[in-house]
Amino acid sequence: MSAPGIRHFLADDDLTPEEQARVLDLAFELKQAPYDAKPLAGPRTVAMIFDKQTLRTQASFAAGIAELGGYPMLVDGALAGIGVRESVSDVAQVLGRQASVIVWRTFAQTRLEEMARYAGVPVVNALTDEFHPCQLLADLLTVREHKQQLAGLTVAFVGDGASNMGNSWLLAGATAGMHVRIASPEGYLPDAEIVERAAKIAATTGGSATTGTDAIAAVTGADVVVTDTWISMGKEEEAEARAAVFAPYSLTTELFDRAKPDAIAMHCLPAYRGKEIDAEVLDGPQSVVWDEAENRRHAQKAILTFLMEEATS
Ligand code: NVA
Repeated sequence: MSAPGIRHFLADDDLTPEEQARVLDLAFELKQAPYDAKPLAGPRTVAMIFDKQTLRTQASFAAGIAELGGYPMLVDGALAGIGVRESVSDVAQVLGRQASVIVWRTFAQTRLEEMARYAGVPVVNALTDEFHPCQLLADLLTVREHKQQLAGLTVAFVGDGASNMGNSWLLAGATAGMHVRIASPEGYLPDAEIVERAAKIAATTGGSATTGTDAIAAVTGADVVVTDTWISMGKEEEAEARAAVFAPYSLTTELFDRAKPDAIAMHCLPAYRGKEIDAEVLDGPQSVVWDEAENRRHAQKAILTFLMEEATS
């Protein structure tokens, strides 16, 4: 029952390759002139709900919404108790009458999909267990800034391939025409459904999507090397078991040296130095992690602008 004409950004492949390129162009333009475009003038309200911890996402959405002339309304997920105190569909219908867009960080993707069905306004995924598409727009913008291209580049993601970041790199990277290689321990590889979804997109963009357990093979010759925490939010109870299984997948200087000499290192943060990444890599000259963090603002302003002004369903 999602209202006709309303578009959402729930997963990376909600954007076609052309639309993704358009949003990245828009992000680039907004970065050059951050205070010029005011598509949220009014100010129109954007509801931001966090059911999990946040730093970058809250800060970058709040700053970006303000720059677009809008008002960022923070809704405390713990107080709202979405799905506990009230159903997702009731919350959606209430917030949809107050806000022009709903931005939600939550657990299961199905919760976000239900919000989108009932809200009557665009809904944006600010991270779920399954996907982190706003991070990927920022990451692709960052790669484009450093490499002047996306299509044809090889990106290696080393770590928890079954996480939101692994899944999103598969879908967004394939959409951008990149060759996405995921290296994860057995049991932590992305779902076959996501890999097939990415491969289908890659077949139309000239990219590819491959997964395996060999981190060295994945990183060798890569243009971009990505990792992420081994313990995503919600998995804290598995911390000890995961630390042991993932140890051989740490992005050490030795592993990073297998990539192209001018490769860039990426991490969405928060990072745990000495665990999934060596301090020498994270803080080294080839790291672009602070650009990624900044680019969240520009990329999210672009997707909000696109959903409000350009998108049609
Ligand atoms: N995979 C991480 C990303 C944090 C931005 C998590 O879900 O906690």
